[in-house]
Amino acid sequence: MNNFIYENKTKVYFGKGGVKEYLGCLLKNYNTVMLAYGSGSIKKNGVYNEITGILNSMEKTVVEFSGIMPNPTYAKVREGAKLARENNVDFILAVGGGSVIDCCKIVSAQAKIDEDIWENEIVKKKFPTEFIPMGVVVTASGTGSEMNAGAVITNETEKIKCGLFGAQANFAFLDPMYTMSVPFEQVISGAFDTLSHAMETYFGKPSANNLSDDINEAVMRGVIRNMRILITDHENYNARSELMWASSMAENGILKIGKITDFQAHQIEHQLGAYTDCNHGKGLAVIHPVLYRHIYKDGIERFARFAKNVWGIYDKKSDEETALAGINALENFIKEVGLPTSFSQMGIPENTDYKSIADSTNITAGCCKKLTADEIFDILKECV
Ligand code: NZQ
Ligand code: ZN
Repeated sequence: MNNFIYENKTKVYFGKGGVKEYLGCLLKNYNTVMLAYGSGSIKKNGVYNEITGILNSMEKTVVEFSGIMPNPTYAKVREGAKLARENNVDFILAVGGGSVIDCCKIVSAQAKIDEDIWENEIVKKKFPTEFIPMGVVVTASGTGSEMNAGAVITNETEKIKCGLFGAQANFAFLDPMYTMSVPFEQVISGAFDTLSHAMETYFGKPSANNLSDDINEAVMRGVIRNMRILITDHENYNARSELMWASSMAENGILKIGKITDFQAHQIEHQLGAYTDCNHGKGLAVIHPVLYRHIYKDGIERFARFAKNVWGIYDKKSDEETALAGINALENFIKEVGLPTSFSQMGIPENTDYKSIADSTNITAGCCKKLTADEIFDILKECV
């Protein structure tokens, strides 16, 4: 097994009613709380009233930071950081899905420095060390952002969507009941994002037997099983809870222990997002099977293991046939759960500049085959 150091500082409060029971206590040492959220879903489903009720009863000064959009922009980060500084915010409470959480992680770091955090991280490779402490109330699961320090931000002027390092939440509330109001398409898109995180880790190196991959296979099977349950029973609480915890598990570092992850599908999708503002999980659903058909011959053994242990395919004559059948099973599953298999199904315009997307995509070295920009361009054209 490869050497590793593992720590996760986020304390998780999982299950019904956690916010009501514990949030007040967790905020007792803070005075000015930034309440950060998206376009207003929390006002419709009662979560906003519940949280402001707690904050007001504790006489906190509340600074609202609203309108954080899906695929949060760098301009929004700057707006939040300015607001936090002007109001001497001493705690950030992010209430939402991955977009709200990600934006707050970087607001938390940017508010502590005068320099431009994008310039620091991307150009100077200088990473933040001071943060406004933050906590998270997850309302839509999938990204797993609640248990790590990574944040995906779109810089609209540079046309780059990429990961930055920011604050990691002190605590995260995961109440599956809060996800009941998420539009069903987003529930499925988020769950596929979780599956993608698991796959991108599983197909990383090394592929020798290791505990992380064994746990990962269980996570993948669980995500697939629970997505199938939700298709016919949208409100099934147990399936929603399982998916919510799988989402955190895929991105809290446990599955990555001793692994060099791949995340090539994510890198392609992020640049697609930078150019089209598309939905993250749906973009991944289109890209994954096409990408895997391009590379599986360089990793037949691993793809065959994926086919057997995740999709239960044991009846093929060779590893190569098994490997391909696994990718077909993944694609059939994507169709079965109603996710798109082409960019046109996602409503992405035909005249999208795929060449520029390919040329600006970060190339990873973690999987069985390192791609070139031309191969990424071919993959994108095949996805159209
Ligand atoms: O704007 P609001 O009101 O929050 O509405 C959101 C949004 O329209 C809605 N929603 C969330 N909770 C709801 C709800 N609607 C009704 N009821 C609720 N309880 O759902 C829509 C999508 O929300 P968003 O946060 O954008 O979705 P998701 O959680 O999928 O996050 C996507 C973002 O996370 C990034 C993606 O690239 C994308 O920018 N990722 C972050 C990662 C990380 N930090 O570790 C890893 C991922 O790979 C991913 O790249
Ligand atoms: Zn993702």
